[in-house]
Amino acid sequence: MNRILVVGSGGREHALAKCFRKSPTVDRVFVAPGNPGMRDVATVVAIDAMDFDRLIEFSKKENIDLVFVGPEAPLSAGITDVMQAAGIRVFGPTARAAQVEASKSFAKKLMNLADIPTAKHVTVFTLKEALDYISVHPAPIVIKADGLMAGKGVTVAMDDATAIEAIRHIYSDMEYGPLVIEEYLQGEEFSLMAFVCGNKVFPLQIARDYKRAYDHDEGLNTGGMGSFSPVPLIKEQWVEDAMSSIMLPMAKVMVDQGIPFTGILYGGLMATKEGVKTIEFNVRFGDPEAEVILARLLTPLDQIVFDVMSGKDVELIFDPRFALGVVMASKGYPQSYTKNTPIRGLEELSIEVCHMGTDWQDGWVNQGGRVLFVMDLAQTLEKARETVYKEIARIDAPGLFYRSDIGRWKDEQV
Ligand code: AMP
Ligand code: GLY
Repeated sequence: MNRILVVGSGGREHALAKCFRKSPTVDRVFVAPGNPGMRDVATVVAIDAMDFDRLIEFSKKENIDLVFVGPEAPLSAGITDVMQAAGIRVFGPTARAAQVEASKSFAKKLMNLADIPTAKHVTVFTLKEALDYISVHPAPIVIKADGLMAGKGVTVAMDDATAIEAIRHIYSDMEYGPLVIEEYLQGEEFSLMAFVCGNKVFPLQIARDYKRAYDHDEGLNTGGMGSFSPVPLIKEQWVEDAMSSIMLPMAKVMVDQGIPFTGILYGGLMATKEGVKTIEFNVRFGDPEAEVILARLLTPLDQIVFDVMSGKDVELIFDPRFALGVVMASKGYPQSYTKNTPIRGLEELSIEVCHMGTDWQDGWVNQGGRVLFVMDLAQTLEKARETVYKEIARIDAPGLFYRSDIGRWKDEQV
């Protein structure tokens, strides 16, 4: 029987803990640092995700069989490297491989090498270079800061003034440094994640994420405000194309460059008129995509990870039903927001909740920007949607807001 440590503290980690808990070969699940909402399925351990020494000490003491790392920050800071060196089995990319997410310019370099379809782009290094580029390539255009920005470093500028403001903002913090400016793409977005070990890539079912804060894709980019899986609008053929032209070549180029990838590779993709293109790569499960995909995954997660890591082929079996979930976020998110406002009624809900950023103070309160992920599985997307919104209406949370159009397409009326 396996003992699992999940590293991280959000909705994705709650979903991972629930998924491990379901496995017949898992004995105990620990989450560090977790949040109090995860106590239903895991033992919450008060160790920070960046405190590698203490995580190693804990893993040894508790005879952990597998460490599964949820978020990007510890991965790009080298948690995999140090845990491996300490003899602990950990699933996630090394710090070098995690650069695929941490540095937009590094990712673009690999995509160019492997001829992976993506938006046309340049990497500039100074304010002047960036402004000069905009003067010849006007909006709509996309500005991407280098480095980890939790989904918030991207400005899709529909006019020049917005582009210039974004560029000036980035260079107000640094004098010299890489900034990616890229062509604005149009199409249907989807998230394709896969278990990867070297050249082997095993895709999960796709999901759709809603990045903007408000209905009709208005407001700022966020970490994601809702998701569902599967995504009927995205044709099977597009997913196959994405596997052969994006995911497999990416895994291969990383092996060829001497930085083989192990872990979850996430393709943020767009089906455009010219075919499927890459918007970004991440090196971990998407959040809130993990919640809906893992709810549908029937193959035991620990067994998948062990098989993938030992070079075996795996078959991933999914519940055919639709999973859909809506994020309840603190009012003001992704900018500043008030914490510790009450959340009442969670105990009465008849459907599942992943805790993204709650705390317990004689009752549930909000702690993080994204607070709850309320989700359901049903035979149709519409039915799942209906149930989720009906249940959300029963939650009394004056400090939270949510989108009312999850499960609908951009041009559909709510
Ligand atoms: P990223 O962090 O790179 O995924 O970007 C966040 C969001 O910005 C994406 O999910 C897209 O909705 C949008 N975006 C990023 N790049 C582009 C692009 N080249 N064209 C249009 N939208 C984009
Ligand atoms: N939901 C998108 C991400 O996790 O990056």
